[in-house]
Order: sequence, then structure tokens, then C-alpha cells
Amino acid sequence: MDEHSAFYIPKQHETERLLMRIWQPGDGRLLHEAVEDSFPELHTWMDWAKVMPTLSETENVVREAAQKFVNRQEFNFIILRKSDRLVVGTVGVHHIRWDVPRFELGYWGRTRATGQGYITEAVRKLTRYLFDELGAERVEIRCDARNVRSAAVARRAGFLLEAVLRREARSNDESLRDTQIYAMLRENFAALSESPPLP
Ligand SMILES: CC(C)(COP(=O)(O)OP(=O)(O)OC[C@H]1O[C@@H](n2cnc3c(N)ncnc32)[C@H](O)[C@@H]1OP(=O)(O)O)[C@@H](O)C(=O)NCCC(=O)NCCS
Repeated sequence: MDEHSAFYIPKQHETERLLMRIWQPGDGRLLHEAVEDSFPELHTWMDWAKVMPTLSETENVVREAAQKFVNRQEFNFIILRKSDRLVVGTVGVHHIRWDVPRFELGYWGRTRATGQGYITEAVRKLTRYLFDELGAERVEIRCDARNVRSAAVARRAGFLLEAVLRREARSNDESLRDTQIYAMLRENFAALSESPPLP
């Protein structure tokens, strides 16, 4: 822990259609159901989804994440649709470097709730929070170069493609993966905030 562990950081954010709240012990079941529903898509793109995690493995991950939030090492939010409390996905803030400060965003959507702009809405909200409240200098989104839907989220939220790391990793099917890095800097965010809202 360092001095950042003393920051007050809200456990919840709200947008027009969504509630985002920090993973809490006991959320394993809600997340497990959403992962089960979405497993084929998650298996294709998320390294942690090589095999379907068990309920108790998911609950353990949730508990570790809750501890990382307390330590200000990672923030993982469950995204709930306000109208019916359906879990529509998750968004997380990872690889934090408080000395910059820089942050990385990661996300996935529940398959049956994709195609409605929820993940972009959540990413925009969290991006604003990181720049406005946590003094971010840089926020990054990384994705497989083949993952056009994820790249589209980054672009819709105003991130710019900065680099491609070639053959940086292997996917769950063992194929070689190029990784795209999208970034937003403080001044990009300020310019975006002054322009009319994106569609
Ligand atoms: C990547 C992923 C989160 C994208 O989900 P998504 O639903 O396409 O993303 P968004 O929430 O931004 O929704 C955008 C879509 O909703 C549509 N949409 C509808 N209403 C909208 C609104 N009010 N605002 C924005 N988009 C809207 C958009 O047109 C777009 O549809 P299109 O793909 O047909 O063009 C999802 O495909 C996923 O979870 N994949 C598996 C895991 C993964 O790859 N995670 C990222 C790893 S880097």
C-alpha cells in the first residue's frame, strides 16, 4: 500500500441507463451467470476464459478484486442495467501507475445485452472519472488486433490507436496475437469534453 490507498474513491457510478458498482464478496454468482451466458465470445477474446471458471473460482476472483480495490490496485465494476438490474457486463481499471497517473481499462459485455452501447457508455463514464477526479495523464485500452468490436468501443469513446505490438501474445486457440494499444491523454480528453456529445 502507498499514500493512494487513503484516497476516497466511490464504489458506484451512474449513467443514464446503467449502474456500475465495485465487485463485492457474494457477486460471484451474478458474474458466473453472465460469464456462462457469454462464454463462447469470452473464450475467443479473454485470456482468463480459456476454460469456463467454476462458481467458486469466480467468487474467489471477486474477493481478490474487492481486496485490490481496498488497496487501490485495481477497480472492477459490475455493470447493471437500471431498468431491470440485468448484469450487462463488467469494466475494470487495471495496471494503475499512480506516479503518472496512468490507467488501463478492460471490459466485456454479456452477449445478449451487446449491440446497445452499454459498454461504450460505461467506458465513457469511467474515463471521465479518471481524468476529472483521479488526475489521469493517460488512459489506455488494449485489445487483440482482430477484435474489431472491442476496438470500436475504444474509438467510439474517443481513444486513438497509438501502437500495435506484433506477436505479443497467444490467444486461447494458440494463434499468435497482435495487440493494439488505444490511448487517451489529458489534452485529448479536454478537447473531447468541449466538443458536442458523440452519437
Ligand atoms: C467488445 C464488446 C464489449 C463490445 O460490445 P458492444 O455491445 O458491441 O459494444 P457497445 O456497448 O459499445 O455497443 C456498440 C453497439 O451498440 C450499438 N448501439 C445501439 N445503441 C447505442 C447507443 N445508444 N450508443 C452507442 N452504441 C449503440 C452500436 O451501433 C454498436 O453496434 P454495432 O456493433 O452493430 O455497430 C463485446 O463484443 C464483448 O464483450 N466481446 C467479448 C469480450 C471482449 O472482447 N472484451 C474486450 C477485450 S479487449
